[in-house]
Amino acid sequence: MSKLIIVSNRLPVSASKVSGRVKFKKSVGGLATGLGSFYKNYESVWVGWPGVASERLKGQRNEVSEELAKENCVPVFLSQKDVEQYYYGFSNKTLWPLFHYFTEYVVYDKTFWHAYENVNREFLKTILKIAEKGDTIWVHDYQLLLLPAMIREKMPDVSIGFFLHIPFPSFEIFRTLPWRDEILDGMLGADLIGFHTYDYATYFLDSVRRLRGFENTLGRINIKDRIIKVDAFPMGIDYEKFSSASKDPSVQKSVKYIKRIVGDRKIILSVDRLDYTKGILQRLKSFDKFLDTYPQYRGKVVMILVAVPSRTHVERYAQLKREVDEAVGNINGKYGAIDWIPVWYMYRSLPFNRLAGLYVASDVAPITPLRDGMNLIAKEFIATKTDGKGVLILSEMAGAAKELDGAIIINPNNEEEIVKALKEALEMPVKEQIERNRMMQRRLSRYTVVKWAEDFMKMLKEVKDMQKNYLSKQITEEVEREIVQKFNESKEKLLLLDYDGTLIPFASKPGYAKPDRGLIRLLKTLSEKATVVIASGRDRYTLSDWFGKLNVGLVAEHGVWIKDAGDTWRQIAPLDNKWKEEIRPILEFYTDRTPGSFIEEKDYSLVWHYRNVQKELAMTRVGEIKSVLTNIAMNLGIEILDGNKVIEFKNIGVNKGSAAMHWIRRKNWDFILAGGDDVTDEDLFEVLPKDAYSIKVRRGVSKARFDVDSYKKFRSILKKIAEGKAG
Ligand code: UDP
Ligand code: G6P
Repeated sequence: MSKLIIVSNRLPVSASKVSGRVKFKKSVGGLATGLGSFYKNYESVWVGWPGVASERLKGQRNEVSEELAKENCVPVFLSQKDVEQYYYGFSNKTLWPLFHYFTEYVVYDKTFWHAYENVNREFLKTILKIAEKGDTIWVHDYQLLLLPAMIREKMPDVSIGFFLHIPFPSFEIFRTLPWRDEILDGMLGADLIGFHTYDYATYFLDSVRRLRGFENTLGRINIKDRIIKVDAFPMGIDYEKFSSASKDPSVQKSVKYIKRIVGDRKIILSVDRLDYTKGILQRLKSFDKFLDTYPQYRGKVVMILVAVPSRTHVERYAQLKREVDEAVGNINGKYGAIDWIPVWYMYRSLPFNRLAGLYVASDVAPITPLRDGMNLIAKEFIATKTDGKGVLILSEMAGAAKELDGAIIINPNNEEEIVKALKEALEMPVKEQIERNRMMQRRLSRYTVVKWAEDFMKMLKEVKDMQKNYLSKQITEEVEREIVQKFNESKEKLLLLDYDGTLIPFASKPGYAKPDRGLIRLLKTLSEKATVVIASGRDRYTLSDWFGKLNVGLVAEHGVWIKDAGDTWRQIAPLDNKWKEEIRPILEFYTDRTPGSFIEEKDYSLVWHYRNVQKELAMTRVGEIKSVLTNIAMNLGIEILDGNKVIEFKNIGVNKGSAAMHWIRRKNWDFILAGGDDVTDEDLFEVLPKDAYSIKVRRGVSKARFDVDSYKKFRSILKKIAEGKAG
């Protein structure tokens, strides 16, 4: 039976060595806690690092493997050096700070990079030992960005999902990474790439486009023979577990204990891994300021600060620990009294019942990360509030803020705002607290971690189906033979052919790409056997010049003009072109500021060409032009067409499809074949009868029934038709 293989650096349980003995403990961190609550429902195994260097496990590796096997986990053992260079090094001194916008903390070190590559390869080796045909492999997080492509190389057909649990930074940040291309290529080995928010997905797509040159349509990227999908899946929590926590006797015991010690003081709860991205120092400073600004709250509130030890070998983390210790000491020294300690500080991780006890007992939870991929603590806090009471203060920089809009949303760098939010939270009427929390709970109970994983799996399957469908469009020799045979047998035959990119390579300048002699000969032969129409976006003068002497029909300007063989040019419907006066100056403005671009003016359309513009600038300008002109064009009855390295403006309803209908309607054709390479040809494919042979030149999502990968291949098919021979 096929299985799910989850792969992450951190397993749901971590081993540690205490007095010579190996101990296991539930892992902390959003990835392990989130995934940990659902993977056992699947036929699955989880591959990951046990959390301790192999040198420390001398003679105990089997014991670790056996213990982990009970949890369906398979270990990847890492040496002390790997841990230093791959885990503490590239993962947590390079990628973690970079992806969280802490560029000043980033270390660029080639040895870290090589270790990262090697360890990703170690993960690959373990996967190859257990993966079978038909399995699904789901790789997680920033420690394993190269793994999807490594697996793809060895198992080309396997389903690979990738999910990033931290933010994906904007291009300006990401581009600073010397190994940026390798990282993107690694991720692009997956079939489906998921992020917590739409913003992260957009930033990723932007980097893929700018650095690797792959465009996307609604998050779909075409790479060679594969379609990849990129989308947002906001991770949820095990809602049931947290919402029923207040009824759990061990949680109740914990709540009672806390309340007894705290008395009737209000509790402000702060829980995070001790990480500089979490804004712990800023939160403490705000609490200090709060007590300073509103002295009436002194003695009336306590802050319980849980800082979970994390990545302690990284100097930044060790430094933060010292700073937090100091900040807590300062506040307690400044405001504390014999009967009141403002900040209760714990530097350790808590088991579920104690953590849930704190969630239930607390009144306010300021969760103020400077950057955070998602932040599950915010969601867990809300879920435990079965009576609806409690206030969440949440940073707008956390992925969770996109969903938890019932929280008081703050900017974590704005101290005054946090101070104000603390006061507002402590004074918020109970009715309002309940209203806000119920709204957020409804969402959290619907979109749980199980739903999240199921959605991801469902989409991964859809992508796989899409890929199969896509490959099935490839023209086989059998289809080619069928086309030729059908052509030979038919009496009334129509060939509708786009020009640029379909019959001839796409040229770097519109004046180029004249038909070669071979093509003219081919068209001549075809026109002796069938009705041939060349449907182009070019102007009618060029088409007359090139094809006027042939016995072929012509369509110019994407359907503005049509011409039967031997006849004169005419329009299908009277058109207006006064709108050009309004659009042209705007296009000129952009052309002046965009080296390499130019405007082509046709009778009834204007085209802005950007094939010679630097790629990134071109993309920016296309976005600007479209946003500036969309409304204006709509008012003028003009359509904006996003073509191959062009944006074209033309009258609505005029397209190659409506022009082709002029020929299609004329007869009861036994055979129709159409070929085209860009979006303007989709209008043509759309109007064809079902049994027509429509062929898209270049792979891509299309309404055409078949596709070929180059104009040469398309021409070879036409040649076979012309010769009447399939072989
Ligand atoms: N957590 C825990 N024990 C603790 C503190 C936190 O098990 O003492 C868990 C918490 O329940 C949450 C996770 O650690 O599920 C933290 O995830 P989050 O997304 O908030 O932050 P991350 O650590 O992933 O950056
Ligand atoms: C974040 C990361 C996880 C990581 C966790 C704990 O949630 O996205 O990949 O496991 O922090 O960090 P650690 O370094 O202890 O695994």
